[in-house]
Amino acid sequence: MSVALVTGSAGLIGSEAVRHFARLGLDVVGIDNDMRSYFFGADGSTAWSLLRLTSELADAYTHYDVDIRDREALSQVFKKYGADIAVVIHTAGQPSHDWAAKEPFTDFDVNAVGTLNVLECTRQFAPEAPFIHCSTNKVYGDRPNTLPLVELETRYEIEPGHPFEQGITEDMSIDHSLHSIFGVSKVAADIMVQEYGRYFGMRTATFRGGTLTGPAHSAAELHGFLAYLMRCVMEGRTYNLYGYKGKMVRDAIHSHDVLTAFEAFFRAPRSAEVYNLGGGRFSNTSHIEAFALARDISGREAKINYVEQARLGDHQWYISSMAKFQAHYPTWTMTYDVPAILREIYEANADKWVPTRS
Ligand SMILES: NC(=O)c1ccc[n+]([C@@H]2O[C@H](COP(=O)([O-])OP(=O)(O)OC[C@H]3O[C@@H](n4cnc5c(N)ncnc54)[C@H](O)[C@@H]3O)[C@@H](O)[C@H]2O)c1
Repeated sequence: MSVALVTGSAGLIGSEAVRHFARLGLDVVGIDNDMRSYFFGADGSTAWSLLRLTSELADAYTHYDVDIRDREALSQVFKKYGADIAVVIHTAGQPSHDWAAKEPFTDFDVNAVGTLNVLECTRQFAPEAPFIHCSTNKVYGDRPNTLPLVELETRYEIEPGHPFEQGITEDMSIDHSLHSIFGVSKVAADIMVQEYGRYFGMRTATFRGGTLTGPAHSAAELHGFLAYLMRCVMEGRTYNLYGYKGKMVRDAIHSHDVLTAFEAFFRAPRSAEVYNLGGGRFSNTSHIEAFALARDISGREAKINYVEQARLGDHQWYISSMAKFQAHYPTWTMTYDVPAILREIYEANADKWVPTRS
């Protein structure tokens, strides 16, 4: 038996991981306690996604409603599958900077201590398994905001000829910057994942995600920018747009492309690796540009409430360099750009996200 163990298995990346590794022929064991509904309310619940997984995959998927903060319950799951575990994909987390400030203990316990719990279980019960961790570009704090930018009509851009013109590389400092409470709990996890690679020789990788997105996002205001933007346009909800004249730039990568990257690492794992993971130059957008695309796709005009004050520590321009990952895994390619991502989000949710009567 070959098992893929996925934490956060009903979430955006987790549910894609479950399907992806099930298609590869592995048995998939998922851990998720729908804590996203605690973070973001009913909009954020991933219960619908779990129902789909269990009905579509039947015996190929086994679910455990376990909290990754619960060491005893977590280790029982790992113990049960032991050396059959061929890969661990750790996606469970508290994903929003704004939310983290409401409950710093909860954020740190889930993101930092929870990651340590999953790492330690892997070391004890399946030390040979590649360990794939979902980190974030927020580990760089607000340092990207010190880059020299130029203001264009619909977006900010980095100065032409700058070394990061093709994207920010992994050697940007994670030190001496404002991270948000969330950014710090993710830094702790990111470094611990590296350390389990360096210190214990495990095959670990931490992937510093840009905007990871796709139709399976349980879109909520505080997390899931492209899906939430499309949801607002489709439902006729007002979107609160914070600062930078809506010209801030994000690179977006579809969950499918995230999973093909994870599969590449699974097939040829390395130790203590760090990779940036985003849409890069191939797939990026400003908020204003995304609204225009959403209008073209849906035929509906967005309702925008512009708030002058930017979110604390929010990136003004962030595009990931994928050069290091592509050098290590040259056959991996990205298949979705922002228009394709938005179109798919629209089509997948056409029945669910309908205009609300006011
Ligand atoms: N989506 C993005 O734009 C993005 C960007 C960078 C990094 N990341 C990181 O990638 C990971 C996955 O992101 P996502 O968008 O799939 O998030 P998500 O919220 O859709 O999925 C996470 C899942 O983990 C579950 N979970 C949360 N706390 C848990 C706990 N204590 N025990 C068990 N399950 C728990 C949630 O219920 C949810 O289903 C997160 O760690 C996030 O920080 C995401």
